[in-house]
Amino acid sequence: MSLQIRVLGSIALVLMLALLAGSAWLLLHARASARLEVHTAFRGAEESVRDTMKGNVAHTVTLREVVASFEGQRHVRAALINEDGKVIVQSQIAQLRNPAPEWFAWLITPPPLAVTIPINLPQYPCVLQLVTDPRSEVAQIWSHAVTAFLAMLAFCAGAMAVVSLAFAHALRRLKRLQAGMLDVARGRYETRLAADGAPEFAELARGFNHMAGRLEQFSSRNQRLEDQIVQVQEEERAGIARDLHDEVGPYLFALQVDASALAKSIDAETRTRGSTIREAVQHIQRQVKDILRQLRPASGLEFGLEAAVADLVLFWSRRYPAIRFEHSVALVLALDRRSEDAAYRIVQEGLSNAVRHGAPGLIRAVLAEEQEGVLVSVEDDGGGLKQSAAPTEMSLGQMGLAGMAARVRDLGGRFTVEDLPGQGVRITALLPRPRIREVA
Ligand SMILES: Nc1ncnc2c1ncn2[C@@H]1O[C@H](COP(=O)(O)OP(=O)(O)OP(=O)(O)O)[C@@H](O)[C@H]1O
Ligand SMILES: [Mg+2]
Repeated sequence: MSLQIRVLGSIALVLMLALLAGSAWLLLHARASARLEVHTAFRGAEESVRDTMKGNVAHTVTLREVVASFEGQRHVRAALINEDGKVIVQSQIAQLRNPAPEWFAWLITPPPLAVTIPINLPQYPCVLQLVTDPRSEVAQIWSHAVTAFLAMLAFCAGAMAVVSLAFAHALRRLKRLQAGMLDVARGRYETRLAADGAPEFAELARGFNHMAGRLEQFSSRNQRLEDQIVQVQEEERAGIARDLHDEVGPYLFALQVDASALAKSIDAETRTRGSTIREAVQHIQRQVKDILRQLRPASGLEFGLEAAVADLVLFWSRRYPAIRFEHSVALVLALDRRSEDAAYRIVQEGLSNAVRHGAPGLIRAVLAEEQEGVLVSVEDDGGGLKQSAAPTEMSLGQMGLAGMAARVRDLGGRFTVEDLPGQGVRITALLPRPRIREVA
C-alpha cells in the first residue's frame, strides 16, 4: 500500500471517528436538553392552569379559553374531557414544518408527562388534561443537529483536502528525489536537485547534490585512473616490443646470416650444423614475431578514432570493391579512451559481420553526437540477420555481437541489433559521454 494511501486513509479514519464521536455527544446533549425544555414547559403550564383554576371558574367558557390558550404551543397540549371521558375540546401544538425522522425521535424523545386536573363545576363535572408533546422540540433539535453535522462534515472534507494537497506537494518533491536517485544509479552523476521549498526538502536536496557531486568526482577520477592504467599498459607493452625487436631482432638476423654461411660450407658436418642452426633461428624468429604481434597496441587508434574508422573502411573496401562503403564521424568532443576503443571495436565487428554474413550493396558506419550520448551505428542492406542473433555470451563461436553488447554494457550504454527483414541489419550503440578533450 502506498505511503499516500496509508497516511490519507489514517487521517480520514481519525476524522470519521471524530465525526462519529461528535455526533454521539450531540445526541446525548440533545436528549438532555429536550427533556429539560419539554418538562420545564410542562411544569410551567401545569402551574399556570392550577393558578387559573383557583379563581372563580363559573362557566365552561372559561375552561374552553384555558384550553384555547394552549393552541399552537410547542411542548404541551391541553384537553377538556367530560365525565363520560369524551373530549370536549383540545389544543394542537404548532404545525411541524420539518418533522424529525422516526429513529431520531426515538433516540431523543423524553419520557411523557401528563396531569389530570378535576374541575368541580356543579352542573358540568369534567377534567382538564395536560400532556407533553415533544415533536416540535425534537424537530427543532433535528434541524440543529443536521446543520451541525453538515458543518462538521464540511470541516472534515476541508481538512482532508488541505492535507491531500500538502501531501501531494511533498510527494512531488520526493518523486523528484527518486528520479534523481535513479539518474545517479544509471551513472548520470551530473544530476542536481533544486534546494528550495520546505527546509527539510531543501536539506535533503543539498545532501543529494553533495552526494552526486562526490560521486561525479570519484567517477571522473576513476575514469582518469583507468585511462592511465590502459595507457601505462600500452606504453609498457610497446616498450617491451621495441626492446625485443631492437635488441633481439638484429642478433637473430646475424645468427641467420652466419648459419646460412655455415650451411654453405664444404664440410658436410658444418653444413648440417649450419642448416640446423638456421632452422632453430627461424623458429625463434617466428616465435618472436608472434610475441611482437601480441604486444602491439590493442587497436589501430594511434591516430584517433576518425582515422581508425577510415582505415577500417579502406581495409574492407579494397577487398570488396563491389560494395559501397559510407562513413561519417561527427564528434565535437573526443571520447575517453575506453569509449573510443569500444566505438572502434563496434565499427570493426559491424563491418566484418556485414561483409561476412550478408550480401550488401551498401554499408554505412556512423558516429554522431546525440542528446543522450554518442551514437555508433553500422547498417547494411545485405538481406537481414542470417539467423536469430540475440546477443548472448553463451554462444560459442558467435562472440561478435555478444562482445559488443558486453563492451557497451560495461560503459553504461545501450546496445541494439535490429533485423530489418529483407533489407539488412543495423547495430546501434549509444555510449554515455565521459569525454576528456576537445577534438583538435
Ligand atoms: N550484418 C549481418 N548480416 C547478416 N547476418 C548477421 C549480420 N551480423 C550478424 N549476423 C548473424 O548473427 C550471427 C552472430 O554474429 P556474431 O558476430 O556474434 O558471430 P559471428 O560473426 O558468427 O562470429 P564471430 O564474430 O565470433 O567471429 C552471425 O553468425 C550471423 O548469422
Ligand atoms: Mg562476427
